[in-house]
Amino acid sequence: MSKMTVAELSERFRKEFDAMPRIFSAPGRVNLIGEHTDYNDGFVLPTAIGFYTRVAVSPRSDTKLFLSSTEFPERLESDITSLPRQKLGAWSDYVLGVAQALIQADCGLSGANLLVHGEVPMGAGLSSSAALEVASALALLSMRNENLPLKAIAKLCQAAENNFVGARVGIMDQFVSCFGKEGHALLLDCRSLDFELVPVPAEVKLVICNTMVKHQHAGGEYNRRREQCEQGVLILSNFYPGIKALRDVSSDQLAAYESEMPAVVYKRCRHIVDENARVIEAVESFRKGNLGRVGSLMQDSHRSLRDLYEVSSRELDLMVESAQGLPGFYGGRMTGGGFGGCTVNLVESDQAESFARQIAERYQEKTGIPPDVYICSPANGAGAELGIQPE
Ligand code: GLA
Repeated sequence: MSKMTVAELSERFRKEFDAMPRIFSAPGRVNLIGEHTDYNDGFVLPTAIGFYTRVAVSPRSDTKLFLSSTEFPERLESDITSLPRQKLGAWSDYVLGVAQALIQADCGLSGANLLVHGEVPMGAGLSSSAALEVASALALLSMRNENLPLKAIAKLCQAAENNFVGARVGIMDQFVSCFGKEGHALLLDCRSLDFELVPVPAEVKLVICNTMVKHQHAGGEYNRRREQCEQGVLILSNFYPGIKALRDVSSDQLAAYESEMPAVVYKRCRHIVDENARVIEAVESFRKGNLGRVGSLMQDSHRSLRDLYEVSSRELDLMVESAQGLPGFYGGRMTGGGFGGCTVNLVESDQAESFARQIAERYQEKTGIPPDVYICSPANGAGAELGIQPE
């Protein structure tokens, strides 16, 4: 995930395909709070981060898709008249999945050469896959001068991951990769897809600490959590016929029927119901400038993900523990799907460097693993280079 300038990427593309490309970019994300709530029609509060995946593209006169990456040696060749219908198990799945989703959505597809350069750390829970999907969608759409609204692009990319890659992910990652805004977190209602931008003050940084243990969605645990939530909704709908998702259930309503549910299903539901409430309170606290409260809600979220939703890991817990008591630290938690990846920490800007140094030392002492630490601020979402934001 080395950085490469747009000029360097263009040059590399020209050498490989003997054409000048157009370039599209989409960022990774970090979720401040609202974990596993998106596929329960709930609320999330992610921000885009300044790591981008860039896709350089040029048209072809035939129906072939040539896919290359600056990180992987092999070049994949496919044909838009006979695209695979399911994943092949390579990085190119995310691009092929988007190509397939464009066809399914009747958006059309033309032959193209694509060269991908990703800066988002892979398998770290920072949505390198969503970044690749969104940048690829913009690149492929540009080949036909198609102008799809960004919300439709986010949904199409989610469909690619659900149907082609086989991970039943929610809409959060693709959505914030499209709509992220510098200096802001994005409060998304995952049912209506209405969103609000919530200013994140410059006096704090988002310090992202990578446990260096990779996570894997398709590993089955993620989909299993979804099923347990669905089971909870099914049981609760016997008592509350109107409910469609855990989003519709209040804390008291859930408590009233605890005895009707398997213990594990109750724990999963309890996390989701409380986490939705935490998102709303975190937004209010940001708006009031109460960063201390935001921090403690993040801590509560971590405990709930660890004990009730059971998607944390030893390394994530040790990373969260390592942050406690460091100067300038408001709060931190695991971020993303879990089982590895990163924690996100809200830290006073002028303490961020020393926080990064000290948490890395502490974590390495406990685990023997030197972590990567990224000091981030909320960044802009996807667009055509250089920095143009599509509407
Ligand atoms: C992954 C998925 C998201 C979301 C998070 C957990 O990042 O892609 O849709 O479910 O896990 O909050």
